[in-house]
Amino acid sequence: MRIGILTGGGDCPGLNAVIRAIVRKGVSVQGHSIVGFRHGWRGLMDGEVTDLGREEVRGILPRGGTILGSSRTNPYKSDDGIARVRTTLAEENIDALIAIGGEDTLGVAHRLAEDGIRVVGVPKTIDNDLSATELTFGFDTAVQTAVDAIDRLHTTAESHDRVMVVEVMGRHAGWIALHSGIAGGANVILIPERPFDVAAVCEYLLHRSRRGENASIVVVAEGAVPAEGTMTLQSGAVDDFGHVQLGGVGNQLTEEIKSRTGFDTRATILGHVLRGGTPTAFDRVLATRFGIAAIEAVHDGATDEMVALQSGQIVRVPLADAVGTLKTVDPALYELAETFFG
Ligand code: F6P
Repeated sequence: MRIGILTGGGDCPGLNAVIRAIVRKGVSVQGHSIVGFRHGWRGLMDGEVTDLGREEVRGILPRGGTILGSSRTNPYKSDDGIARVRTTLAEENIDALIAIGGEDTLGVAHRLAEDGIRVVGVPKTIDNDLSATELTFGFDTAVQTAVDAIDRLHTTAESHDRVMVVEVMGRHAGWIALHSGIAGGANVILIPERPFDVAAVCEYLLHRSRRGENASIVVVAEGAVPAEGTMTLQSGAVDDFGHVQLGGVGNQLTEEIKSRTGFDTRATILGHVLRGGTPTAFDRVLATRFGIAAIEAVHDGATDEMVALQSGQIVRVPLADAVGTLKTVDPALYELAETFFG
Protein backbone atom coordinates (compact mmCIF):
# COMPACT_ATOMS: atom_id res chain seq x y z
CA MET A 1 0.00 0.00 0.00
CA ARG A 2 1.02 3.63 -0.44
CA ILE A 3 -0.03 5.63 2.57
CA GLY A 4 -0.04 9.40 3.10
CA ILE A 5 0.42 11.11 6.48
CA LEU A 6 -0.38 14.70 7.40
CA THR A 7 -0.34 16.80 10.55
CA GLY A 8 -3.02 19.52 10.80
CA GLY A 9 -3.99 22.31 13.19
CA GLY A 10 -1.78 23.67 15.95
CA ASP A 11 1.52 21.87 16.38
CA CYS A 12 1.94 19.71 19.45
CA PRO A 13 4.78 17.88 21.22
CA GLY A 14 4.70 14.24 20.11
CA LEU A 15 3.73 14.73 16.46
CA ASN A 16 7.12 13.54 15.30
CA ALA A 17 6.92 10.51 17.58
CA VAL A 18 3.67 9.51 15.84
CA ILE A 19 5.20 9.99 12.39
CA ARG A 20 8.26 7.93 13.38
CA ALA A 21 6.13 5.09 14.74
CA ILE A 22 3.97 4.95 11.60
CA VAL A 23 7.03 4.86 9.36
CA ARG A 24 8.99 2.35 11.43
CA LYS A 25 6.12 -0.13 11.54
CA GLY A 26 4.62 0.71 8.14
CA VAL A 27 7.83 0.61 6.11
CA SER A 28 10.19 -1.65 8.03
CA VAL A 29 7.69 -4.22 9.30
CA GLN A 30 4.68 -4.14 6.99
CA GLY A 31 6.46 -3.20 3.76
CA HIS A 32 4.27 -0.24 2.84
CA SER A 33 5.43 2.89 1.09
CA ILE A 34 4.78 6.07 3.08
CA VAL A 35 4.73 9.72 2.08
CA GLY A 36 4.07 12.87 4.07
CA PHE A 37 1.94 15.78 2.89
CA ARG A 38 3.33 19.16 3.94
CA HIS A 39 1.32 21.66 5.99
CA GLY A 40 -1.77 19.64 6.74
CA TRP A 41 -4.63 19.58 4.25
CA ARG A 42 -2.91 22.37 2.30
CA GLY A 43 -0.20 19.97 1.14
CA LEU A 44 -2.81 17.54 -0.06
CA MET A 45 -4.54 20.27 -2.04
CA ASP A 46 -1.27 21.61 -3.47
CA GLY A 47 0.46 18.28 -4.05
CA GLU A 48 3.30 19.06 -1.65
CA VAL A 49 4.60 15.61 -0.89
CA THR A 50 7.74 14.17 0.63
CA ASP A 51 8.96 10.57 0.96
CA LEU A 52 9.09 9.17 4.48
CA GLY A 53 11.45 6.30 5.14
CA ARG A 54 13.56 5.12 8.03
CA GLU A 55 16.23 7.71 7.21
CA GLU A 56 13.79 10.63 7.22
CA VAL A 57 12.47 9.81 10.69
CA ARG A 58 15.82 9.13 12.29
CA GLY A 59 16.32 11.20 15.46
CA ILE A 60 12.91 12.88 15.45
CA LEU A 61 11.38 11.09 18.48
CA PRO A 62 12.29 13.84 21.00
CA ARG A 63 11.83 16.76 18.63
CA GLY A 64 8.94 19.18 19.16
CA GLY A 65 6.83 20.49 16.29
CA THR A 66 6.26 18.44 13.18
CA ILE A 67 8.74 17.64 10.42
CA LEU A 68 5.79 17.81 7.99
CA GLY A 69 4.69 21.31 8.94
CA SER A 70 1.09 22.16 9.75
CA SER A 71 -1.69 24.56 8.80
CA ARG A 72 -5.30 25.28 9.62
CA THR A 73 -6.39 24.94 5.98
CA ASN A 74 -9.83 23.43 5.44
CA PRO A 75 -10.24 21.92 1.95
CA TYR A 76 -14.03 22.10 2.28
CA LYS A 77 -13.70 25.89 2.49
CA SER A 78 -12.56 26.32 -1.08
CA ASP A 79 -14.69 25.45 -4.12
CA ASP A 80 -12.14 23.18 -5.71
CA GLY A 81 -10.55 21.94 -2.45
CA ILE A 82 -11.83 18.39 -2.55
CA ALA A 83 -11.24 18.04 -6.28
CA ARG A 84 -7.62 19.05 -5.68
CA VAL A 85 -7.31 16.55 -2.84
CA ARG A 86 -8.59 13.80 -5.15
CA THR A 87 -6.19 14.85 -7.91
CA THR A 88 -3.20 14.65 -5.55
CA LEU A 89 -4.30 11.29 -4.19
CA ALA A 90 -4.63 9.90 -7.72
CA GLU A 91 -1.32 11.39 -8.93
CA GLU A 92 0.52 10.03 -5.91
CA ASN A 93 -1.29 6.65 -5.99
CA ILE A 94 -2.31 6.99 -2.37
CA ASP A 95 -4.43 4.12 -1.03
CA ALA A 96 -5.10 5.56 2.42
CA LEU A 97 -4.41 8.57 4.62
CA ILE A 98 -3.48 8.98 8.26
CA ALA A 99 -4.55 12.39 9.54
CA ILE A 100 -2.97 13.48 12.82
CA GLY A 101 -4.92 16.34 14.32
CA GLY A 102 -7.57 17.74 16.59
CA GLU A 103 -11.25 18.31 16.12
CA ASP A 104 -10.92 20.41 12.95
CA THR A 105 -8.43 18.19 11.14
CA LEU A 106 -10.30 15.04 12.12
CA GLY A 107 -13.62 16.66 11.17
CA VAL A 108 -12.26 17.02 7.64
CA ALA A 109 -10.95 13.44 7.81
CA HIS A 110 -14.43 12.21 8.72
CA ARG A 111 -16.03 14.09 5.82
CA LEU A 112 -13.42 12.75 3.40
CA ALA A 113 -14.08 9.23 4.64
CA GLU A 114 -17.79 9.77 4.03
CA ASP A 115 -16.82 10.96 0.55
CA GLY A 116 -15.07 7.65 -0.10
CA ILE A 117 -11.44 8.40 0.77
CA ARG A 118 -9.81 5.89 3.12
CA VAL A 119 -8.62 7.71 6.21
CA VAL A 120 -7.69 6.90 9.81
CA GLY A 121 -7.25 9.59 12.47
CA VAL A 122 -4.81 10.08 15.33
CA PRO A 123 -5.97 12.35 18.20
CA LYS A 124 -3.68 15.32 18.78
CA THR A 125 -4.15 18.47 20.81
CA ILE A 126 -2.49 20.01 23.81
CA ASP A 127 -6.02 21.08 24.84
CA ASN A 128 -7.10 17.44 25.49
CA ASP A 129 -10.63 18.33 24.38
CA LEU A 130 -11.23 15.59 21.82
CA SER A 131 -14.05 13.20 22.62
CA ALA A 132 -13.81 9.40 22.51
CA THR A 133 -10.26 9.33 23.90
CA GLU A 134 -9.26 9.77 27.51
CA LEU A 135 -6.14 11.63 26.50
CA THR A 136 -4.55 13.25 23.49
CA PHE A 137 -0.77 13.35 23.19
CA GLY A 138 0.77 16.77 23.83
CA PHE A 139 -1.44 17.48 26.82
CA ASP A 140 0.97 16.00 29.35
CA THR A 141 3.85 18.07 27.96
CA ALA A 142 1.78 21.27 27.93
CA VAL A 143 0.71 20.73 31.54
CA GLN A 144 4.28 20.01 32.64
CA THR A 145 5.53 23.16 30.90
CA ALA A 146 2.80 25.23 32.57
CA VAL A 147 3.58 23.73 35.98
CA ASP A 148 7.29 24.51 35.58
CA ALA A 149 6.32 28.13 34.86
CA ILE A 150 3.87 28.31 37.79
CA ASP A 151 6.53 26.92 40.17
CA ARG A 152 8.84 29.74 39.09
CA LEU A 153 6.12 32.35 39.36
CA HIS A 154 5.43 31.29 42.97
CA THR A 155 8.89 32.32 44.08
CA THR A 156 8.84 35.69 42.36
CA ALA A 157 5.27 36.32 43.60
CA GLU A 158 6.45 35.64 47.15
CA SER A 159 9.48 37.91 46.82
CA HIS A 160 7.33 40.85 45.76
CA ASP A 161 4.00 40.12 47.46
CA ARG A 162 2.38 40.02 44.06
CA VAL A 163 -0.60 38.44 42.39
CA MET A 164 0.58 36.58 39.30
CA VAL A 165 -2.04 35.89 36.65
CA VAL A 166 -0.95 33.02 34.39
CA GLU A 167 -2.81 32.60 31.13
CA VAL A 168 -2.59 29.16 29.53
CA MET A 169 -4.02 27.79 26.29
CA GLY A 170 -7.44 26.19 26.24
CA ARG A 171 -9.97 27.70 23.89
CA HIS A 172 -13.12 25.77 24.76
CA ALA A 173 -11.93 23.47 27.54
CA GLY A 174 -9.96 24.16 30.69
CA TRP A 175 -8.00 20.90 30.95
CA ILE A 176 -4.57 22.57 30.85
CA ALA A 177 -5.62 25.29 33.31
CA LEU A 178 -7.19 22.81 35.70
CA HIS A 179 -4.38 20.25 35.72
CA SER A 180 -1.57 22.81 35.82
CA GLY A 181 -3.45 24.83 38.43
CA ILE A 182 -3.93 21.82 40.70
CA ALA A 183 -0.35 20.60 40.21
CA GLY A 184 1.05 24.12 40.57
CA GLY A 185 -0.90 25.00 43.70
CA ALA A 186 -2.89 27.85 42.14
CA ASN A 187 -5.12 29.94 44.40
CA VAL A 188 -7.77 30.46 41.72
CA ILE A 189 -8.35 28.58 38.46
CA LEU A 190 -10.62 29.96 35.74
CA ILE A 191 -11.81 27.78 32.86
CA PRO A 192 -14.08 28.25 29.83
CA GLU A 193 -16.66 25.82 31.22
CA ARG A 194 -17.35 28.08 34.25
CA PRO A 195 -17.94 31.79 33.51
CA PHE A 196 -16.17 33.62 36.32
CA ASP A 197 -17.26 36.42 38.60
CA VAL A 198 -14.33 38.83 38.86
CA ALA A 199 -15.61 40.06 42.23
CA ALA A 200 -15.37 36.51 43.58
CA VAL A 201 -11.85 36.17 42.20
CA CYS A 202 -10.85 39.39 44.01
CA GLU A 203 -12.53 38.19 47.18
CA TYR A 204 -10.37 35.05 47.20
CA LEU A 205 -7.27 37.24 46.89
CA LEU A 206 -8.44 39.70 49.57
CA HIS A 207 -9.22 36.80 51.87
CA ARG A 208 -5.67 35.51 51.43
CA SER A 209 -4.27 38.95 52.10
CA ARG A 210 -6.28 39.25 55.34
CA ARG A 211 -4.51 36.06 56.45
CA GLY A 212 -1.18 37.68 55.60
CA GLU A 213 -0.78 35.77 52.34
CA ASN A 214 -0.08 38.44 49.77
CA ALA A 215 1.44 36.29 47.06
CA SER A 216 -1.15 34.56 44.89
CA ILE A 217 -1.33 32.64 41.66
CA VAL A 218 -4.37 32.86 39.38
CA VAL A 219 -4.39 30.42 36.45
CA VAL A 220 -6.76 31.40 33.66
CA ALA A 221 -7.50 29.52 30.46
CA GLU A 222 -7.39 31.75 27.39
CA GLY A 223 -11.01 30.84 26.65
CA ALA A 224 -12.33 31.69 30.13
CA VAL A 225 -15.15 34.23 30.01
CA PRO A 226 -16.49 36.58 32.66
CA ALA A 227 -20.04 36.11 33.88
CA GLU A 228 -22.65 38.66 32.77
CA GLY A 229 -20.28 40.00 30.09
CA THR A 230 -18.64 42.42 32.53
CA MET A 231 -15.33 42.29 30.72
CA THR A 232 -15.19 42.51 26.95
CA LEU A 233 -12.54 40.25 25.57
CA GLN A 234 -10.49 41.24 22.57
CA SER A 235 -10.68 39.09 19.50
CA GLY A 236 -8.54 38.82 16.43
CA ALA A 237 -8.65 37.28 12.99
CA VAL A 238 -10.76 34.21 12.24
CA ASP A 239 -9.22 31.05 10.76
CA ASP A 240 -10.62 28.62 8.15
CA PHE A 241 -12.55 26.78 10.85
CA GLY A 242 -14.15 29.98 12.21
CA HIS A 243 -12.02 30.18 15.39
CA VAL A 244 -11.24 33.66 16.63
CA GLN A 245 -7.67 34.29 17.86
CA LEU A 246 -7.79 34.53 21.65
CA GLY A 247 -5.28 35.78 24.17
CA GLY A 248 -6.75 38.78 25.97
CA VAL A 249 -8.28 37.52 29.17
CA GLY A 250 -5.06 37.30 31.21
CA ASN A 251 -4.11 40.93 30.66
CA GLN A 252 -7.62 42.24 31.18
CA LEU A 253 -8.13 40.21 34.32
CA THR A 254 -4.82 41.53 35.66
CA GLU A 255 -5.97 45.15 35.18
CA GLU A 256 -9.32 44.38 36.79
CA ILE A 257 -7.68 42.76 39.86
CA LYS A 258 -5.27 45.68 40.16
CA SER A 259 -8.01 48.29 40.10
CA ARG A 260 -10.42 46.39 42.37
CA THR A 261 -7.90 45.30 45.04
CA GLY A 262 -4.92 47.60 44.66
CA PHE A 263 -2.66 44.52 44.69
CA ASP A 264 0.52 44.60 42.68
CA THR A 265 -0.54 42.26 39.88
CA ARG A 266 1.33 40.95 36.84
CA ALA A 267 0.28 38.86 33.86
CA THR A 268 2.26 36.04 32.25
CA ILE A 269 0.86 34.73 28.99
CA LEU A 270 2.32 31.27 28.39
CA GLY A 271 0.61 30.88 25.00
CA HIS A 272 2.58 29.00 22.39
CA VAL A 273 5.36 28.15 24.85
CA LEU A 274 3.02 25.29 25.87
CA ARG A 275 3.03 23.91 22.34
CA GLY A 276 6.77 23.96 21.84
CA GLY A 277 9.72 21.85 22.84
CA THR A 278 10.40 18.23 23.48
CA PRO A 279 7.55 15.89 24.50
CA THR A 280 7.53 14.31 27.94
CA ALA A 281 8.29 10.60 28.19
CA PHE A 282 4.58 9.98 28.74
CA ASP A 283 3.67 11.79 25.51
CA ARG A 284 6.40 9.99 23.57
CA VAL A 285 4.98 6.65 24.65
CA LEU A 286 1.36 7.64 23.98
CA ALA A 287 2.24 9.11 20.58
CA THR A 288 4.19 5.96 19.70
CA ARG A 289 1.27 3.73 20.73
CA PHE A 290 -1.14 5.85 18.67
CA GLY A 291 1.18 5.78 15.64
CA ILE A 292 1.56 1.99 15.74
CA ALA A 293 -2.20 1.53 16.18
CA ALA A 294 -2.93 3.89 13.27
CA ILE A 295 -0.71 2.07 10.79
CA GLU A 296 -2.14 -1.25 11.99
CA ALA A 297 -5.65 0.11 11.40
CA VAL A 298 -4.77 1.18 7.86
CA HIS A 299 -3.05 -2.18 7.25
CA ASP A 300 -6.26 -3.92 8.37
CA GLY A 301 -8.32 -1.87 5.90
CA ALA A 302 -10.00 0.39 8.47
CA THR A 303 -11.43 3.75 7.46
CA ASP A 304 -13.39 6.56 9.11
CA GLU A 305 -11.89 5.50 12.44
CA MET A 306 -9.63 7.10 15.02
CA VAL A 307 -7.24 5.43 17.41
CA ALA A 308 -8.02 6.32 21.01
CA LEU A 309 -7.00 5.69 24.61
CA GLN A 310 -9.73 4.09 26.69
CA SER A 311 -9.14 2.49 30.10
CA GLY A 312 -5.42 2.44 29.38
CA GLN A 313 -5.85 0.47 26.13
CA ILE A 314 -5.49 1.72 22.55
CA VAL A 315 -8.75 1.09 20.71
CA ARG A 316 -10.40 2.18 17.45
CA VAL A 317 -13.48 4.38 17.52
CA PRO A 318 -15.61 5.90 14.73
CA LEU A 319 -14.24 9.32 13.74
CA ALA A 320 -17.77 10.66 14.15
CA ASP A 321 -17.60 9.91 17.90
CA ALA A 322 -14.44 12.00 18.23
CA VAL A 323 -15.56 15.11 16.38
CA GLY A 324 -19.21 15.43 17.37
CA THR A 325 -18.80 17.24 20.67
CA LEU A 326 -15.86 18.58 22.64
CA LYS A 327 -14.69 16.83 25.79
CA THR A 328 -14.94 19.42 28.52
CA VAL A 329 -13.52 19.17 32.04
CA ASP A 330 -14.95 16.88 34.66
CA PRO A 331 -17.00 19.09 37.03
CA ALA A 332 -15.92 16.91 39.99
CA LEU A 333 -12.28 17.69 39.30
CA TYR A 334 -13.01 21.42 39.21
CA GLU A 335 -14.83 21.12 42.52
CA LEU A 336 -11.80 19.33 43.95
CA ALA A 337 -9.60 22.22 42.79
CA GLU A 338 -11.94 24.75 44.43
CA THR A 339 -10.96 23.29 47.81
CA PHE A 340 -7.67 25.12 47.39
CA PHE A 341 -9.05 28.48 46.19
CA GLY A 342 -8.48 31.54 48.33
O1 F6P B 1 -3.95 23.66 19.11
C1 F6P B 1 -4.81 24.15 20.08
C2 F6P B 1 -4.40 25.56 20.42
O2 F6P B 1 -3.11 25.54 20.95
C3 F6P B 1 -5.38 26.23 21.35
O3 F6P B 1 -5.13 25.97 22.71
C4 F6P B 1 -5.20 27.68 20.98
O4 F6P B 1 -6.37 28.42 21.24
C5 F6P B 1 -4.92 27.63 19.52
O5 F6P B 1 -4.37 26.37 19.26
C6 F6P B 1 -4.00 28.71 19.04
O6 F6P B 1 -3.86 28.60 17.66
P1 F6P B 1 -2.84 29.44 16.78
O7 F6P B 1 -1.50 28.80 16.92
O8 F6P B 1 -3.39 29.31 15.41
O9 F6P B 1 -2.81 30.83 17.31
